[in-house]
Amino acid sequence: MAINRREWIQQSLLASAAMLVAGSTGAYGCASGFRERRIEGEPLQLNWNENPYGPSESAIKAVNEAMKNANRYPDDYIVEVKEKLSKLYSIKPENLLITAGSTEILSLLGQHVGLQKGEILTAYPTFPTMIQFGERAGATIRKVDLDKNNRFELDRLRNAVSNQTSLIFVCNPNNPTGTELPTEDLKSFCRSVPENVLICVDEAYIEYSNAGLDGSMVSLVGEMPNLIICRTFSKTYGLAGLRIGYAISNAININALRNRHLGFELSAGWAPLVAAAATLDDQEFIQMCVSRNNEGKQIVYNAYEQWDVKYDRSSTNFIYTRHDRFDKNVIAKMRERGILITKWPDMHNHIRISIGKPEEMQTFVEVVEDFLV
Ligand SMILES: Cc1ncc(COP(=O)(O)O)c(C=O)c1O
Repeated sequence: MAINRREWIQQSLLASAAMLVAGSTGAYGCASGFRERRIEGEPLQLNWNENPYGPSESAIKAVNEAMKNANRYPDDYIVEVKEKLSKLYSIKPENLLITAGSTEILSLLGQHVGLQKGEILTAYPTFPTMIQFGERAGATIRKVDLDKNNRFELDRLRNAVSNQTSLIFVCNPNNPTGTELPTEDLKSFCRSVPENVLICVDEAYIEYSNAGLDGSMVSLVGEMPNLIICRTFSKTYGLAGLRIGYAISNAININALRNRHLGFELSAGWAPLVAAAATLDDQEFIQMCVSRNNEGKQIVYNAYEQWDVKYDRSSTNFIYTRHDRFDKNVIAKMRERGILITKWPDMHNHIRISIGKPEEMQTFVEVVEDFLV
């Protein structure tokens, strides 16, 4: 299913109505219960997979300097960010759409399928934004289980594709499990999907993964008209609060997304664009974040090994942790001690711990030890 622009635009009024009727609690907003609210004071926020090192000094400097241009629309900076991304991934600017976080792309795709009364196929648990938006707009959601290692099981997913399937959502590495797929397996899977089925690969955490950028599906964009990749500057790039992400796909899909999203590509303003451009030029910062994140993870792994807590080795900046060695109210009890961790409703038997700075993970380990059972 290529994205048909006319159909999409015709349905836009219906889309707005569907969203209004369904309510607007945000993609995985507080009201849906997925996110822990911030608490008073300065809690240790190990719940939203934010980068504790960002933004980079280069981003802060660039934003401060750019403020004097904030009276102008940011078109030139969109061009600049696209040029930098094109160079980094050996693609063309027309393969890119810059958005206000990757949430925007996921929600657009979910609505697109929903309005056509199509089916989104995915493995679960995974990042729920597209599913939620799709469901609200009328999509059927088909979920298969993850494999026993909490990874997407590609054969199972492939076997579940039917002539009802409109879009397959693959999150790699996966949130909330932190697991990563072998690059070649995922490439073969993408190539095996019929051309009339869209595939969205969400690569929000790709820089943290073992494969790194080599694990991206970006090299398939030239050959596959049905592939859309979602990326974000919210994680390794340390810019979650500025809201900037992007889609990578063929020019036809990019145009269709562009014509449907808010403000014809002006949803990211000056500040996120200049911050993203500066951080793209500061790959040392990215490397530092990845390597310090590994140090933080190791502190938690060491404690878990010692306590016999089951967990999945993480290719991200969070650890999917079996709940059973901890008090059943560990989340509330940690919160009382000023540390936020999380659990989504569908994360049976698991909690998710985001990785902060090594010293913060040391604190986490010392506090959580009190809640071992
Ligand atoms: C897998 C995944 N995709 C997308 C997002 C959304 O990121 P943003 O909208 O900040 O780009 C997140 C945020 O946590 C995520 O974990």
